[in-house]
Amino acid sequence: MKTVDQLEQANALINSLASRMAPHPVPAPKGPVYVGVDVGTANVVSVAIDGEGIPLAGEMTPARVVKEGIIVNYLEAVQIVRSQIQSLGRRLDTELKIGASAIPPGTESGNARVTRNILEAADLEVCAIIDEPTAASLVLGTQEGVVVDVGGGTTGISVLDQGKVIYTADEPTGGFQFDLVIAGHFKISTEEAEAMKRDPIHQRVLFPVIRPVLEKIAFIVRRHLVGYHAPALYLVGGTCSFPGFDRFMEQETGIPTYLPALPLMVTPLGIALSCKEG
Ligand SMILES: Nc1ncnc2c1ncn2[C@@H]1O[C@H](COP(=O)(O)OP(=O)(O)OP(=O)(O)O)[C@@H](O)[C@H]1O
Ligand SMILES: [Mg+2]
Repeated sequence: MKTVDQLEQANALINSLASRMAPHPVPAPKGPVYVGVDVGTANVVSVAIDGEGIPLAGEMTPARVVKEGIIVNYLEAVQIVRSQIQSLGRRLDTELKIGASAIPPGTESGNARVTRNILEAADLEVCAIIDEPTAASLVLGTQEGVVVDVGGGTTGISVLDQGKVIYTADEPTGGFQFDLVIAGHFKISTEEAEAMKRDPIHQRVLFPVIRPVLEKIAFIVRRHLVGYHAPALYLVGGTCSFPGFDRFMEQETGIPTYLPALPLMVTPLGIALSCKEG
């Protein structure tokens, strides 16, 4: 299938999830329900899908429980995930039993166990702990290319070859660095900078201010891809929503670049899909 058609299919799924995020109404599920839990630096997101992989409901909570890909506040993470699972269960009027989660590649040793414990503490039977780029690729329907995940704290670069991650790197530059440069430029707090960054009215004027961070991200991507076959870049993670991010990456890397609708939702949805696959 052509990349644009794949992206269109992915966008249909992502948009249907967006329309079912709390507090939107949800359909009554028929058959099994699977949950995907993404514990990130900026947000914890839980997504419920049905046995066909159709998104049923989602919950998102801003949180500071992860730093540079590692869970640093276990108790708070458990509390948030438990409350999201309970809320999903109430909204769907069903008991949620099976869930999956994902971790950034390269953090497998301790992080996978901690992540598993978080789901178990929320009374979920864990069907899979996968790596984040693989989760994203399940939504994007892609087997080849590079998943670039720019979240709150880090930029992940993962090269896919025949559906397998053959190279991966995670660098500590993400959306929070945007906030830092905006805060420094306007002499405001990082919270005010974050609000300004997301406000479409301000985004155009902010481009020159955040440009050095964009250049750094593009440099990181280019550096890690030296020697790899990189036919396409797929952008995921909330920071890629910044207007112009995709065009800038394409210009700087010279690689065809694809931006799904709501890049922040891609990995959480893919995690839920991994449960169905497994
Ligand atoms: N419209 C937007 N424009 C720019 N940035 C945005 C927008 N929406 C969200 N963000 C940024 O996206 C980041 C959060 O993205 P995401 O939820 O993918 O990160 P995460 O998974 O929690 O972090 P990480 O993957 O680094 O652990 C935050 O820095 C937030 O400011
Ligand atoms: Mg993330």
